[in-house]
Amino acid sequence: MGRLEQRVALVSGAASGIGAAVVTALRAEGAIVVGGDIQEGEGCRYLDVTDPESVTAMVAHCVATHGKLDIVVNVAGIGVSRLIEDVPLEEWKRILDVNLTGTFLLSQAAVGEIRKTKGTIINMASVAGVRATPYNAAYCASKGGVIMLTKSMAIELASAGVRVNAICPASVDTPFLRNFEIPDGADMSLFDRARSPMGKLVDPAEVGATVVFLASDDAATMNGTALVIDGAATA
Ligand SMILES: NC(=O)c1ccc[n+]([C@@H]2O[C@H](COP(=O)([O-])OP(=O)(O)OC[C@H]3O[C@@H](n4cnc5c(N)ncnc54)[C@H](O)[C@@H]3O)[C@@H](O)[C@H]2O)c1
Repeated sequence: MGRLEQRVALVSGAASGIGAAVVTALRAEGAIVVGGDIQEGEGCRYLDVTDPESVTAMVAHCVATHGKLDIVVNVAGIGVSRLIEDVPLEEWKRILDVNLTGTFLLSQAAVGEIRKTKGTIINMASVAGVRATPYNAAYCASKGGVIMLTKSMAIELASAGVRVNAICPASVDTPFLRNFEIPDGADMSLFDRARSPMGKLVDPAEVGATVVFLASDDAATMNGTALVIDGAATA
């Protein structure tokens, strides 16, 4: 018997990388999973986390189809690496909009249902929200924001039996990382501080397994944490 039998989960950013691995991991533990994304993916419904109507419709779909909502995993995210002088305002806003406001919007839309089930919300932050990397101001700011959003909601919802946690992976082997371009003029020595002493990337399945743990009763008192998976990069 899986650890998440009968639980209904909603995962954003489910079409690719970490989101797809989270869907697989939750299903393997018996959860009923609804995935959402702006791009097509196996079993994914359309979901734009920056659109209040889209997130509301997605939560309504989960409840209408499966009767309840126990787990929300906010995975959708984007990032672009640039020198600070070169960050266009629109790009800054877009990164904050998807990573931070999108996490807020889906959590806010779901929280009424999550209160009913004494469920849980898990946010994909990043090690970049704990220890900054250069040429990534908007991304680092957004992920730092996700961690504080997580902690604030955890305190606010604790007495209702709702847990809210964040996961902070270092570099995970996904399309996001493979498409990552270091801008011209970057000082490569500034990246040394972010290097993992283990010298390896994080496997998306490891992030999926961490989501399962945080969603399960094994983590019944874990609340408001920002759980780092970084091979000791920030140790
Ligand atoms: N890959 C890494 O090294 C790494 C490390 C730490 C944290 N993260 C975080 O993990 C999350 C997933 O990253 P990934 O590596 O799987 O990236 P990815 O690019 O493979 O997947 C991200 C998914 O989010 C979706 N998405 C983007 N905008 C969206 C929107 N407005 N609404 C709904 N879906 C949207 C994309 O279509 C894509 O399917 C992101 O939040 C990212 O910041 C990634």
